[in-house]
Amino acid sequence: MTRIVAFNGSPRGKNSRTQILVEAFLEGARRAGAETETVFLAEHSILPCDECMSCRVLNNGGECARGDEGPALLEKALNADTVLFATPLIMDSMSGILKTFLERWLPLVDSRFQARHGQGTMPGRAARIPDWIILSTCSFPEQFHFQAMSRTFRELSKRFGNRIAAEIYRGEADLFGRLGQMSHPEVLEPYLDLVRSAGSEFVKNGGLSADTAELLDRPLIPYEQYVAEGNAAWDRILEGTCRIDETP
Ligand SMILES: Cc1cc2nc3c(=O)[nH]c(=O)nc-3n(C[C@H](O)[C@H](O)[C@H](O)COP(=O)(O)O)c2cc1C
Repeated sequence: MTRIVAFNGSPRGKNSRTQILVEAFLEGARRAGAETETVFLAEHSILPCDECMSCRVLNNGGECARGDEGPALLEKALNADTVLFATPLIMDSMSGILKTFLERWLPLVDSRFQARHGQGTMPGRAARIPDWIILSTCSFPEQFHFQAMSRTFRELSKRFGNRIAAEIYRGEADLFGRLGQMSHPEVLEPYLDLVRSAGSEFVKNGGLSADTAELLDRPLIPYEQYVAEGNAAWDRILEGTCRIDETP
């Protein structure tokens, strides 16, 4: 049975709206027979790696000196077939919480440089590093905002020698809550159904077809409408006539 473990790096923990998509995807995956689990990284103590190299080398019995939950969470990730990284787009990148967790994957790479792809790089040392799925949401309407983060994950997966099995990016995330005024269930429900189907498809085929990826990438509402409704919502919030999360 395929086991997918999602690590949600939103500072909002269980209130993360990215989690709405994660839940839909995992629900679809379970329908196709997968076993799933979600870890809210914000609920755990994970310190940044300070490169002390005590962990050098997991293979030689080294142990992380941080004394926090980092090693146990890494172990959980390594026991999955697929790791789903979920994150809000924060300053054009993954959240600091998820980045800190990723730093704790350092024991899995060899410190010795080797030439690969024309660059010095660190080949993955763990016997098997699970495939990654990247799932992210952002407030801006355009999908291009995810490009820098996508590039980061792709470069990292070259280093770890694993596969990015799917990437799901969703701009227009204010349609998923927070600006209550922008609720559009008529587009949200079909989109979440699509994400559920993507979860099932992933389990059956080990990836997403180009058609599914293209459907997931489509705008939910027209750009002009999103911008006009978003700006009107912010006007009300900033002039104090409406609170964030309130539906007028
Ligand atoms: C500090 C901070 C920085 C952000 N930076 C961006 C950004 O660069 N681009 C963007 O479109 N949205 C940005 N956002 C908005 C979040 O990506 C968006 O609200 C996301 O859907 C939140 O998901 P969550 O509820 O799962 O945390 C930022 C939010 C925060 C708190």
